[in-house]
Order: sequence, then C-alpha cells, then structure tokens
Amino acid sequence: MNSIHKKYMKIALQISLKGRRSVYPNPMVGCVIVKNNTIVAKGWHERFGGHHAEIEALNKAGNKARGADLYVTLEPCAHWGKTPPCADAIVKAGIARVIYGMPDPNPATSCQCHNAFKQSGIAYIGGILKRDIEFVNKDYCDIFKKSRKMHVIAKSAMSLDGKIALASGDSRWITSEKARNYVHVMRAGVDGIMVGVNTVIMDNPNLTSHGKGRNPVRIIIDPRLRSPVNSNVFNSAAGTILFHSTDKLKAKLSALKNKGVVVVKMNKQIDLKNMFSILSKMHIYNILIEGGGKTIGRAFDAGLVNEVAFFIAPKIVGGCNSITPVEGKGVAHIADAVTLGSVSIKRLGNDMLISAAVVK
Ligand SMILES: NC(=O)c1ccc[n+]([C@@H]2O[C@H](COP(=O)([O-])OP(=O)(O)OC[C@H]3O[C@@H](n4cnc5c(N)ncnc54)[C@H](OP(=O)(O)O)[C@@H]3O)[C@@H](O)[C@H]2O)c1
Ligand SMILES: [Zn+2]
Repeated sequence: MNSIHKKYMKIALQISLKGRRSVYPNPMVGCVIVKNNTIVAKGWHERFGGHHAEIEALNKAGNKARGADLYVTLEPCAHWGKTPPCADAIVKAGIARVIYGMPDPNPATSCQCHNAFKQSGIAYIGGILKRDIEFVNKDYCDIFKKSRKMHVIAKSAMSLDGKIALASGDSRWITSEKARNYVHVMRAGVDGIMVGVNTVIMDNPNLTSHGKGRNPVRIIIDPRLRSPVNSNVFNSAAGTILFHSTDKLKAKLSALKNKGVVVVKMNKQIDLKNMFSILSKMHIYNILIEGGGKTIGRAFDAGLVNEVAFFIAPKIVGGCNSITPVEGKGVAHIADAVTLGSVSIKRLGNDMLISAAVVK
C-alpha cells in the first residue's frame, strides 16, 4: 500500500515544481486525484494568491472526485487564508481518502485538517515522502524558523548627484547591467518587493529575479488604483498584492482579482505599519522596497527601514526637480538624521553598491 502512496505522491511532487518560480512565499504544492488506480485529475499551486492545488484538481475532477483518493504534497489547509479552506472543499467533493506529504510547518495551522476529516469520516494519512517534499520547500519551511520581525531593505539606484529619475519620470537606465543583475539576485533572497504606483506607471517593471532564483511576491501601494490593469507587475510570473484605499473603480478591482492579484483595501490613510502586519500574516517577513523616492521616504518617515542598499553610478543628472532616493518629510534637524552602521562598499564595474544597517 505504501508503495502505491509513494508512487502517486511522487507524481504530485513533480507537478508541484511547476510553481517553483511563482508561488513564493507560499509553498509549492501538487495534487493528484486517483480512482480505481487511475489518475482522474491533477492540479498544482500556480502562483501566490492563486487556487490551492487541491482546488485546481477538484475542479478538474468534477464528479469523478466522489469516492476517490486525493494525494497532496502539503497537508490541506483547514483555515481561511487568502482563499477558503481546502479541507471543506475536499469533504464537499466526496473524497474518500486523503493522503498528504508534509504537515504544514506553520505551528498555528499544523494538523488542523485532521478534525475536519475526522468529523466527516474521511480517512487520512500524512507523512508520505515528507522529507523530499520538505527539501524542495526549504524556503517556505524556513519562514517559520526565522524570527518573525519584519525586515525592510530600501534599495535605490542613483546618479552620483543623488537622482533616481528625471522630473519626466525617465530613469532607464541609471546603473549598469552588472548592477541590475546584482539586484535580480537580491530579489531572489527576499519574500516581497514593494514599489509605489508611480514606479508602476513610469517604469512598468516586472519586478522578478529574471531567472536568478525564485520570484518573491510583488507588493504595490496604489491608494487610488491608478496602475493600468495590463502593467507587467500583474503578469503571471509571480504573485502580486495590491494595497489600495478607494471605494471607486469596482470594475478595475475585479479585473485585477481575475488576474490573480490579491487586493487589500486599507483605511483612507494607508498606514505602513498596518500593511506590514497584514503582510506578516501572509508569511512575508523581509521586504525590498525598490522605490520610488516617495515610497522609500514614507518608510523612513515611519521609522520602518532596517537596511539600505544604494547603487551609485558615475553619472550626473542634475535638475532641481529630478527625483531623489528618499523623499517624504525627512528629518527636522541634521542631528535627527537616520544613522547607518556596518557599512560595506562593493564595486560592480564602474558602479558602486553601498549597503548599511540602520542604527538609529
Ligand atoms: N532609480 C531607481 O532606483 C528607481 C526605482 C524606482 C523608481 N524610480 C523612479 O522613481 C519615479 C517614481 O517615484 P515617485 O517617488 O514619484 O513615486 P513612487 O514611490 O513610485 O509612488 C508614490 C505613490 O505611491 C503611493 N504611495 C507610496 N507609499 C505610500 C504610502 N505609504 N501611503 C500612501 N500612498 C503611498 C502614493 O500614490 P498616490 O499618489 O496615488 O496617493 C504615492 O504618490 C519613477 O519615475 C521611477 O522611474 C527609480
Ligand atoms: Zn488550501
């Protein structure tokens, strides 16, 4: 029996890998539904904010799910997250038996599905290929080992005279390809990349790691929903969370939701601290804020930046209306300036990267 379980779990594990670049910080999950020793449906978690693997497979299986076995690499969720609980959908579909791989490493939700299955008389077995599944989801499992404090890095690319864009918004490219490649690697090491709406409109960036590793989730602050729906940050390369604060533009909101964007409505005033607490509930604990100046400025004003990574190119842009890396209100006195320590300087061709930690 165990060898049959392993056989189907291996297939589920293979399928789960299709989400490798696009689900982080969610885990990769694959699911197969088996009836009379035949696979009747397959599903995987395609991207952060998208359907869970079980729902994809159940939708494809339809009536064939009744009386079938469901193999899934991660314990089915039994709580309301960004989507309704899969355990309920499994019960409703009439699945006879659930075979899962690794238990959810999140101590807050681990093994919660057991109750739902016990109450409905569904048999369940856990731990099949657990170690292999945990191995491919190491980054996800690690989230629950790390300290749960938010860590924020402000990243900017500027000219030697401290400008990140012209007043017209043109900013491509201030730094060299070598520096930009370095940023792609940095992206693969964080849970989320945050930008303000002006950057989405002016640069139409993808905000991915461009094949240098996994793609973190993209976080857009867009109070008035000014971002065009066809912006690259809403493509399927990675998940996207959009924070807004308007009651208008319902059609635009549904268009974004249809594209799989996780939309979060905030109070009139978007408060970064509240945003961060919502993000940590989504297992996003380290964020790279990539600009523009207003967004980074507000994060400094709120005292929420832990680290900086400023790239400096040997170029002079000038212009008193050009945009600078940190706008916002700033400090009232030089004595109140944010002080940095642990400074490191790295050369990337003719560009320079200054990284440092916020001390005060
Ligand atoms: N060289 C670089 O490294 C780099 C990186 C990124 C961007 N850029 C350039 O920078 C320019 C954009 O910078 P920017 O300073 O004008 O704008 P931005 O930071 O991209 O976007 C600012 C807007 O985002 C919203 N927003 C951000 N944080 C918010 C908060 N805490 N609360 C409420 N709303 C918030 C506001 O939208 P509303 O106005 O709708 O309220 C705000 O006006 C572009 O031209 C881009 O090319 C350069
Ligand atoms: Zn689920």
